[in-house]
Amino acid sequence: MSALQTYYSKLPRIAPSALQHIPGTDGWPLVGNSLEFLANPLQYARNVLERYGPVSRANFLFERRVNLISAEANELVLLDRAGNFSAYLGWEPVLGMLFPRGLMLRDADDHRYHRRLMQPAFRKEALAAYLARMTPRIAQRIAQWSESSHLKFYPEVKRLTLEVAADVFLDVQLQSEIDQVSRDFVDLVEASNALLRVPVIGRKFERGLAGRRRLAQLIASRIAARRGGQGTDLLSQLSRAEDENGQRYSDTEIVDHLIFLMMAAHDTTTSALTTIVYALATQPEWQARLRDTIVAMGKPAPEYEDLAALEEIEWVLRESLRLYPPLTVILRRTLRDIEFQGHRIPAGTSINIFPVATHRLAQWWSDPDRFDPERFSPARAEHRRHPFAWAPFGGGAHMCLGLHFAEMQVKAVLYPLLAAMRISVAENYGPPFKLAPIVHPRDGLPVRLERN
Ligand code: HEM
Repeated sequence: MSALQTYYSKLPRIAPSALQHIPGTDGWPLVGNSLEFLANPLQYARNVLERYGPVSRANFLFERRVNLISAEANELVLLDRAGNFSAYLGWEPVLGMLFPRGLMLRDADDHRYHRRLMQPAFRKEALAAYLARMTPRIAQRIAQWSESSHLKFYPEVKRLTLEVAADVFLDVQLQSEIDQVSRDFVDLVEASNALLRVPVIGRKFERGLAGRRRLAQLIASRIAARRGGQGTDLLSQLSRAEDENGQRYSDTEIVDHLIFLMMAAHDTTTSALTTIVYALATQPEWQARLRDTIVAMGKPAPEYEDLAALEEIEWVLRESLRLYPPLTVILRRTLRDIEFQGHRIPAGTSINIFPVATHRLAQWWSDPDRFDPERFSPARAEHRRHPFAWAPFGGGAHMCLGLHFAEMQVKAVLYPLLAAMRISVAENYGPPFKLAPIVHPRDGLPVRLERN
């Protein structure tokens, strides 16, 4: 038996018969509904919602599950007032081997302890220092983009966010080291995507594990110096973090947290920047509106205090995350029997909630498939109609710790990009996105760039 098969065989399971009373389908032999789900999670969710309603049984990602598709279900699962759900048991099957012991894979008191210790690394002073580190690198890369009139945006922005992460997260400065960190990290993430699709050990998976080992060595070798230093990078923050009892993260915990943080930050922010640029390329009036605000600020790059004034970028970000949330589903497992909207769901059941679908429910959103950032303006505030209809960053105890970081990085990239260039796509192009495992464009998103 391969290591991966052993791993899967140890995961808790419930008998398929335990969910037969819930409407739904078990799909095809072996693959269940995996193909339909992975091909298009939004369409899949819309289909099951129409056929079976907001609570349905399913069979994908290698096990029987229950889909809960409504704002009320997002609230039930994410707020989890009664402690009915485990994030660890939900995410472990997909992330446990490559990103073990990350913050999202911890529950209850253990999670609270690790999150509290990490929180100062995401406060205002820390964020301001990360911003100051990232802006020169972003400016440099965007100056290179402006040399060409055509660009595949997705691979380019991925490269940029990897370079930023190597610097801001790990304080890696040498280009050769940045390139190695980027390669190892890409291998690691690709291995986790492979894990989502096929549970077999292959070259991709082995490359991912090797990448993780090298990253772990690099991080571990730098911790001792960071513990007593004054560094403003994330590794320094975690190395110095201490609670009121003098408790600190161990070296192994720092390695696990940082590798998880890079994963949590990287593909999601890259995805958000890509869906935003697509939206702006197809909505020139919004592009011009953001550009006008940026130009009026009259600075080459924003400083931390300037970010609040870029409110319309926030609306555009929120709207892009509504239409294309990078994490289309959020996973949990029930710790005890629960009852929801008349359905009994036994302990040990894998649960999926679908932000990608609740973000488009006509019950909460006017003209839900339309790109309309103003729905997030104070005057309209559609996201206030239900606190969990919009949940691209999750909610409750596991709510994304990096959401202000993500918002800041999006502004830090859009600011010089729009100040320097007009972006467009070919007529009748798109939308090019594949929604799983994380929203990304199939063709790299080719854009046309013209200097302003
Ligand atoms: C647009 C960008 C991002 C999106 C859409 C996003 C989305 C999410 C979501 C949905 C969760 C909750 C998952 C769950 O409840 O199971 C989450 C958790 C998390 N995210 Fe993000 N994220 C983004 C960027 C970032 C960044 C930039 C960082 C770090 C710098 C980060 C760090 C984390 C961490 C540490 C958690 C786990 C929190 C916990 O379990 O307490 N994320 N993110």
